[in-house]
Amino acid sequence: MNAIKISKMIFGCRLFNQSRSVLGFIKSPNSNRSLHISLPRFLGLRCAINQTHKQYSVSYPKWGRSRVFPATCCSSSNNNNSNKNDHISDYSTTLENHANDKNFETSYMQGGGDLDEPACRTETEVEKEAWRLLRDSVVTYCGNPVGTLAACDPGDKTPLNYDQVFIRDFVPSALAFLLKGEGEIVRNFLLHTLQLQSWEKTVDCYSPGQGLMPASFKIRTVPLDDTKFEEVLDPDFGESAIGRVAPVDSGLWWIILLRAYTKITGDYAMQERVDVQTGIKLILNLCLSDGFDMFPSLLVTDGSCMIDRRMGIHGHPLEIQSLFYSALRCAREMLATDEGSKNLMRTVNNRLSALSFHIREYYWLDMKKINEIYRYKTEEYSTEAINKFNIYPEQIPYWLMDWIPAEGGYMIGNLQPAHMDFRFFTLGNIWSIVSSLSTPKQNNSILNLLESKWDDLVGDMPLKIVYPAVEKEEWRIITGSDPKNTPWSYHNGGSWPTLLWQFTLACIKMGRIELARKAVDIAEKRLYADHWPEYYDTKSGKFIGKQSRMYQTWTIAGYLTSKMLLENPEKASLLYWEEDYDLLEICVCALSKTGRKLCARGAAKSQILV
Ligand code: GLC
Repeated sequence: MNAIKISKMIFGCRLFNQSRSVLGFIKSPNSNRSLHISLPRFLGLRCAINQTHKQYSVSYPKWGRSRVFPATCCSSSNNNNSNKNDHISDYSTTLENHANDKNFETSYMQGGGDLDEPACRTETEVEKEAWRLLRDSVVTYCGNPVGTLAACDPGDKTPLNYDQVFIRDFVPSALAFLLKGEGEIVRNFLLHTLQLQSWEKTVDCYSPGQGLMPASFKIRTVPLDDTKFEEVLDPDFGESAIGRVAPVDSGLWWIILLRAYTKITGDYAMQERVDVQTGIKLILNLCLSDGFDMFPSLLVTDGSCMIDRRMGIHGHPLEIQSLFYSALRCAREMLATDEGSKNLMRTVNNRLSALSFHIREYYWLDMKKINEIYRYKTEEYSTEAINKFNIYPEQIPYWLMDWIPAEGGYMIGNLQPAHMDFRFFTLGNIWSIVSSLSTPKQNNSILNLLESKWDDLVGDMPLKIVYPAVEKEEWRIITGSDPKNTPWSYHNGGSWPTLLWQFTLACIKMGRIELARKAVDIAEKRLYADHWPEYYDTKSGKFIGKQSRMYQTWTIAGYLTSKMLLENPEKASLLYWEEDYDLLEICVCALSKTGRKLCARGAAKSQILV
């Protein structure tokens, strides 16, 4: 047996900090949580391996590529995997606290999962290739699979940080594996990134808040002596990222993935672990801490999510708000209902209610609302003001007047005092459907808009990350003249096939599966031939992106996840949320119980009720 017990491994690990203050950790005898201790010049989680192990941890750039997992049911890749299955069973015995999980381990982890078996059909050549590439992107740490590299482009001589495991990029990979019945890599990923969360992190002598999840991590193999090597998990919290952006979405995705893992595998023991509960609470505390905010939405800097470069999305961008809302809903399901979590649970409920009101009411845009804004009076003072954020009607962009369809609407990209960002951001809109941040009526309207503006938002490659692009002087000011984000390229109106799985999920939820099929068909025709690019350029997504990586893992995984969801739409229900009437109730109660108006909900209540 080649697997190392992770519990033992953690004891043997050290943190490692190259130039900054240093920390290691030991385990508290009374908790699963690690305590920090000082250790010089180390960064990352480390484990010692001898040469026997080295065969499973080939050093960079090939590490992790040799690992292949068993496929289920009709997968053609089953053929060569009988010997590999041994490793899988070994891995499933490696994690601590799983005395209660025996049934789970045997039924789910040994391939096939404990889900109903997927309908058997032969995989297409495109799917086979996608699975091969996805498995090739898997990285191992001390012999265990822990994530997938962002891209494995053999022709790319300067991978920058694409040779790392990104938290957000791993989500579609995780879902593909989970839907295939292979939960172990996801469990390892969740537990290892949890350890990274405890890191002491510093950027130029400043330590960001505890609970922050890294944007990505890398596994480095360092020689100890002639025969021994050590593997090091080296996280990036933004201190090496271009622009030093804080990955606010990482912790939110981590919670969302944890819930998906639990729902799909049935491994509820995982979320009950003390360290996992603490991890959830740390993320929540960071997001829910008091600041100077007047809004329930989360205030962040530019580039703190999938769009990780300056694109004018600082403040309260929709993507962060929908992920925040989803993460709060996940946490509400997963937090242990004991005395210790009572206050936190109350805060979560109140925030959910306030956030959904705020977004439904103030971010929603359709023809009627534009007309209202067009006729807004400005400089209003009082809690009863109609134009609360003092939006000057001149802000309504010309393109929008012609573009907005009679049927349909969407959530705007951002809202600040005297500022509405009218751009359509696809991920935020899709994810507000998935999480029920928007009302059922709004959900349908967003899909109506996507359908009626198909050529603009889907075109030759699904899906446009944002519509429209910023151009000319606006591009210069908003992006800071970023040559990667030129109009209709990359984050500035490029088309990102990874968004396909989220679109598929939203369509299945709203009973509009034909829309998702149409989009997947378009993508399928090109992705394989084009070598799975990261993004496409031009208004319709006609060309492979100027600086696009090939063999981008979340493009591949997003495609596979979409295919599997379309094939088993009932599984999608494990990944989305329905309207929660209790939350609306909290909102209504808060309004009616107080004699004094605590908020202006009374004056603005057009969207709150379904
Ligand atoms: C780009 C994307 C970011 C992604 C990363 C790795 O920076 O903007 O969302 O996580 O590439 O693929």
